[in-house]
Amino acid sequence: MSEPKSKNIHWHHGKLTSEDRQEKLGQQGAVIWLTGLSGSGKSTVAREAELALVKNGINAYVLDGDNVRHGLNKNLGFSPDDRKENIRRIGEVAKLFAEANVVVLTAFISPYQEDRALARELLPQGSFFEIFCDAPLDKCEERDPKGLYKKARAGEIPEFTGISAPYEAPDKAELVLKTGEETLEESTRRVLDMLIENNIIKA
Ligand code: ADX
Repeated sequence: MSEPKSKNIHWHHGKLTSEDRQEKLGQQGAVIWLTGLSGSGKSTVAREAELALVKNGINAYVLDGDNVRHGLNKNLGFSPDDRKENIRRIGEVAKLFAEANVVVLTAFISPYQEDRALARELLPQGSFFEIFCDAPLDKCEERDPKGLYKKARAGEIPEFTGISAPYEAPDKAELVLKTGEETLEESTRRVLDMLIENNIIKA
């Protein structure tokens, strides 16, 4: 991991341990990292799981690729370096949310294994869950909810993931959702069950 650019900076500790915070707030933070092609259902599953969690009194929040690129990451494009920086920042933001005991669901293509591994390394063991939204390219392209595959095929969008830029599928995801076949309800249920099995939330 690279060192901070600034030298004269010091870490400040708060008055709460993470155990104190968990006890007082009655919930534990975690990062649910969804990865997959554009149109593979990452945001849809993340939003559905967020709704189910919040309805059950759990503070959950979605960080979504398209949205974050309107603000925090508005200065980034889709070159490999920019995608790396995109994921680095999101990894750090997700970590902060998790430290504040929020269940954060991130929905970014996050095409590079190495970048996802760096995001994982920021979190304590057992609080980072990589979920692969494994829908085949032809299915995503057929759905094309934003009409972007069509544009990419026409050469109007350079470096488009799956068409002219790579996607590296995870080989050690905690969960693989067959989002080309499963219903949204099934995929959401599987995410929640994974959180129950790992003691992040109660049944
Ligand atoms: S990532 O590769 O850096 O993780 P991110 O999830 O933030 O990508 O943004 C992906 C979204 O941006 C896509 O769902 C799509 O709507 C849009 N997009 C625009 N241009 C591209 C591109 N060249 N490749 C992939 N997605 C793109």
